[in-house]
Amino acid sequence: MARMSMHHNLLQLLSNGRFHSGEELGRELGVSRAAVWKSIKLLQKMGMTIFAIRGRGYSLEHSVELLESHKICSEYMTNKDRNLEQLLVLESVPSTNSYLMERIDNDWVKPRAVVAEYQSEGRGRRGRNWCSPFAASIYLSLFYSFDRGVADLGGISLAIGLAVRKAILSLMPCELSVKWPNDLMWKGKKLGGVLVELSGDPLSECKMVVGVGINYRMPNGTNIDQPWIDLSSIVGDNLPSRNELTGALIESILDACSVLDNSGFEQFIEEWSLADAVVNQKVSLQLGNKRIDGIARGIDSLGSIRIESDGVVRSYASGEVSLRVTE
Ligand code: BTN
Repeated sequence: MARMSMHHNLLQLLSNGRFHSGEELGRELGVSRAAVWKSIKLLQKMGMTIFAIRGRGYSLEHSVELLESHKICSEYMTNKDRNLEQLLVLESVPSTNSYLMERIDNDWVKPRAVVAEYQSEGRGRRGRNWCSPFAASIYLSLFYSFDRGVADLGGISLAIGLAVRKAILSLMPCELSVKWPNDLMWKGKKLGGVLVELSGDPLSECKMVVGVGINYRMPNGTNIDQPWIDLSSIVGDNLPSRNELTGALIESILDACSVLDNSGFEQFIEEWSLADAVVNQKVSLQLGNKRIDGIARGIDSLGSIRIESDGVVRSYASGEVSLRVTE
């Protein structure tokens, strides 16, 4: 894991989108041309598109705004009483969720946030890999300590999915929905996801790490095994600032956590019904080896999905939902 460094400074110089020779970059950074070349190679390996043209030098495919913790905190988090203990910006890390999970301590009470430009082992739900190219998405994890027991917190991941949606909508109006339990969707394509991990006593105080991944501007040719979309394809050049989006996400998620902790999940049910991507549609729920076909009928008071089959509505707390194409 590395903090801001050579890559950061190099990208700052390249961020104006123009060509810069290796010699010029080396001079500015106080390193050799070979060191510049090495850094470029590594960034390319981490998924950045950087053109290298003999005689002209290097340039970025798109200008890039790197994450900066002071910007996020002082410019983009309006509510100063957040009580955030720490906001750490890392350049590269295996996974921001694992980073926090490995460090959780009994003494941690206040919320903490970690964001990274790159994850080498980004994790999705159900053991899947989360594609995490350099500066192409937001990779954010938050630690939050709840006073309630885990048993009371069934709706956490749904409430957080809604909070993420709200944060994005506050910066760019578009048609975003949530697919149970917590996928962010745009017209049937996945824009982002949420990974909630809990530790602690299920019946009393509970500590949570929530990870959020939002596709921002993914490199051309990115290969993901399901239909997906990124913010840049939705709004073109009107992309919100990455620092601003990160600040809005942190604030909105912390808000949702405190509402959840104080008032429970019921507060979110109506909002869910307005944003539900599959309600009243034919769905399949894959539950282990079992498949339940029916009509989605929203969620219940614990955040479980309700599915009607053979005229009976039943609730399910886990499983993978997919839309059924009408035969
Ligand atoms: C999903 O499968 O939909 C959940 C994806 C969650 C990805 C985020 S990126 C930041 C955090 N760190 C991880 O390793 N995963 C989550």
